[in-house]
Amino acid sequence: MNDFHYRDGELWCEETPIARIAKEVGTPFYLYSDRTLKHHFRVFDEAFKDVPHIVCFAAKANSNIAILKIFINEGGGVDIVSGGELYRAMQAGVNPEKVVYSGVGKKVDEIEYALEAGILLFNVESSQELRVINECAKKLGKVAGIALRVNPDVDPGTHPHISTGLKKNKFGIDIQRSLEEYREARKLEHIDIKGVSCHIGSQVTKVSPFVDALDRLKELINFLRKDGLEIRYLDLGGGLGITYDQETAPHPSEYAKAMMDASKNMECTFIFEPGRVIAGNAGILVTEVLYTKSNEEKNFVVVDAGMNDLIRPSLYNSYHKIQRVTGEGGDEIVADVVGPICESGDYLAKGRKISRFERGDLMAVMSAGAYGFTMSSNYNSRGRIPEVLVSDDRFHVIRKRETYADLIRGETIPDYLKRTASKQV
Ligand code: LLP
Repeated sequence: MNDFHYRDGELWCEETPIARIAKEVGTPFYLYSDRTLKHHFRVFDEAFKDVPHIVCFAAKANSNIAILKIFINEGGGVDIVSGGELYRAMQAGVNPEKVVYSGVGKKVDEIEYALEAGILLFNVESSQELRVINECAKKLGKVAGIALRVNPDVDPGTHPHISTGLKKNKFGIDIQRSLEEYREARKLEHIDIKGVSCHIGSQVTKVSPFVDALDRLKELINFLRKDGLEIRYLDLGGGLGITYDQETAPHPSEYAKAMMDASKNMECTFIFEPGRVIAGNAGILVTEVLYTKSNEEKNFVVVDAGMNDLIRPSLYNSYHKIQRVTGEGGDEIVADVVGPICESGDYLAKGRKISRFERGDLMAVMSAGAYGFTMSSNYNSRGRIPEVLVSDDRFHVIRKRETYADLIRGETIPDYLKRTASKQV
């Protein structure tokens, strides 16, 4: 379900016509539906109502503090992968006891920040990291809650860039070796072993890889418990896929049922780290057509959003539906929808059958609520675009468009360069 729909041939978000927002905010911009975000969060959360659990939204998917606040208000936590994401979560008012910290490259200052904040646990990805966390906790007179992120070596059947649970991936600790690692962790005075975690990949469109991973973790947990360890949390990561085009992804209730069936009598609190399934289809990118042109081979629709705004098509060859925001559109053509960036890889859609767009038309690039803005950059010195949240018949700019001044914030010209007069040619 999502709240982007047509009324009299015009695309609306909830009770707000998108063209009206474009008129006030300018283009391009990201647009999110508050109602859809809440709905997706609730559906996921309620699917696990029979077991103790925390839904920690993966901030990497969408880290705007207003968006995080929506989930925090719903009782959610946040999955972070950096000090910056922790800062955002704290600004949004998260309960630190609902924050889990993942990632292979945590730095000392980030670890210390998380310890000071009092997060629930670190998902530890190597034995060196474990020792560094212990040292940091010792220095601060604290005890760090941890889970080892084990790599269950299952194939999630997804794009190679976003599969993470295979031996060849950099993530986690080999499941066979993890038992030994837990024994080591036990000897560390400033470490409190709280659980086990895993994350197998993203945009996973089948339930079976999750079940396989869970089966392997269950075995591990049984061993650990026999060893006398109190495993209180099982973090199953994120990764549930969504429909971008024709793919069918399991409904969260189907995923939940499979997980619950596979983990009967586990007696622990489950942690989930969904990102895409909550935010992906709750957001779109709105862009304006600048020019159209054709040669013997191709039609091009040049729009004012580029790969710096939405990099997924260029990076993963991902599919995002292209829709009209206003107007009927004429016949259909096959075209590349391209941005203003000076790279051939700068496209939002390639060889796509779309209705004929004209200069000035508004276009919606669908399913852009996750890994859209968060992966955007200032490449070609383009200011990052605004993020807008619609709630019913109102809209709120939750991040302003960056200005030229924003672009050079923090840059300085050293004095020795200022002293050098420009060469006369
Ligand atoms: N937890 C961990 C440890 C993760 O690494 C990720 C995603 C998630 C949770 C959330 O996964 P989700 O539920 O959103 O699938 N930029 C790529 C996706 C990279 C995902 C990385 N990790 C894309 O645009 O498709």
